[in-house]
Amino acid sequence: MNVESIRLINIRNYRNINLSFNKNINIFIGKNGQGKTNLLEAIYMCSNGRSFRTNRDSDIINFAKNEAYIGADIRTENFNKLIELKLDRNKPKRIRINRTELKSQRELDSGLYVVLFFPDHIRIVKDGPQERRNFIDDVISQLRPVYKYNLNRYRKILLQRNNLLKSSKFNRDPGNLLDLFDLQIAKIGTSIILERHKYIKRLEKIANHIHSTITKNVENLTLHYSSNIPITKDRQEMEEAYINLLRKKINKDLEFGTTEIGPHRDDILMFLNDKDARIFGSQGQQRSLVLSLILSEVELIKEEIGLYPVVLLDDVLSELDEDRREYLIRYLENMQVFITMTEMENLQTLDNLDKTIFHINDGKLEMESC
Ligand SMILES: Nc1ncnc2c1ncn2[C@@H]1O[C@H](COP(=O)(O)OP(=O)(O)OP(=O)(O)O)[C@@H](O)[C@H]1O
Ligand SMILES: [Mg+2]
Repeated sequence: MNVESIRLINIRNYRNINLSFNKNINIFIGKNGQGKTNLLEAIYMCSNGRSFRTNRDSDIINFAKNEAYIGADIRTENFNKLIELKLDRNKPKRIRINRTELKSQRELDSGLYVVLFFPDHIRIVKDGPQERRNFIDDVISQLRPVYKYNLNRYRKILLQRNNLLKSSKFNRDPGNLLDLFDLQIAKIGTSIILERHKYIKRLEKIANHIHSTITKNVENLTLHYSSNIPITKDRQEMEEAYINLLRKKINKDLEFGTTEIGPHRDDILMFLNDKDARIFGSQGQQRSLVLSLILSEVELIKEEIGLYPVVLLDDVLSELDEDRREYLIRYLENMQVFITMTEMENLQTLDNLDKTIFHINDGKLEMESC
């Protein structure tokens, strides 16, 4: 799968550019603040319709303009697609695929799979459970649109339940409506937990192998989906236990106006040689762990759809030591990769590979043929 070309009009600091990309490695070199990440962001947006840096589409439109456009030609073994996004400061964005406009952004099934890796991803290991939940939710959502739909439904019903709890705090009788919410929450919550549990197991299998290779068999990586709802084989049984737990916690939930249990409170535990990597992992170990996770996401997509995704690496090469850098580059030999860097320094590892280098300066690009 690869992005053959892209056209940007008034996107961030780009005025009007047309670029054709290498099928394998594309390198964006430029000083800070020149537009490297902006380009990755535009590619990412073609995959899932939104940015990884902002929720406001208007941020992406050039400061001096009111409208902007991204158009990308995607090529796979099975199809070619033209994905187009039209942004307007005063209107919701419009998305077209092969010149047919989507009725809603929810419909976007671009066929373009993208995996992004940037230094901030270390937060998946370091920060609180929310980061880890977001990671697994993004992975599954890309592969299973129904999962994304369920997540949104879950969030909405949870919000309604919490509002009901708050408004019932003083009369302590939320009535039948609460039972209704609990039934729905247990049903959707259970399917979210089971999907996460399943995907964590699959990721673990791949990540464990990758991590052993990266660390030359020194570190054994294991992952565990930790849910506050007991995971059982029988779905029905699990839903019933879920409802019972909700009932058991009702007084506390009424007290705080929140819901104490459910997938919104779950976590993914990550262990290196059986020690919690979040607490005991060094900075370098945590970084390698994230690298293993991201590469297993790449591999998982390949397993599911039969094609490698497009990989975006924002400023990560300089963060890795030479061994890991080489491993990463060798790993990515068979797919399309976009790499940003500020200097040419790390390029020895890329010497023998098919690549195109773009020099970026204030939203203007110069291509260097190699
Ligand atoms: N809506 C916008 N309109 C015009 N320019 C913008 C807009 N949003 C961001 N920029 C500009 O884009 C530039 C940042 O681009 P980008 O984040 O791609 O830089 P970068 O090359 O990745 O830098 P770094 O190496 O620091 O990560 C900044 O100069 C910023 O002012
Ligand atoms: Mg950047």
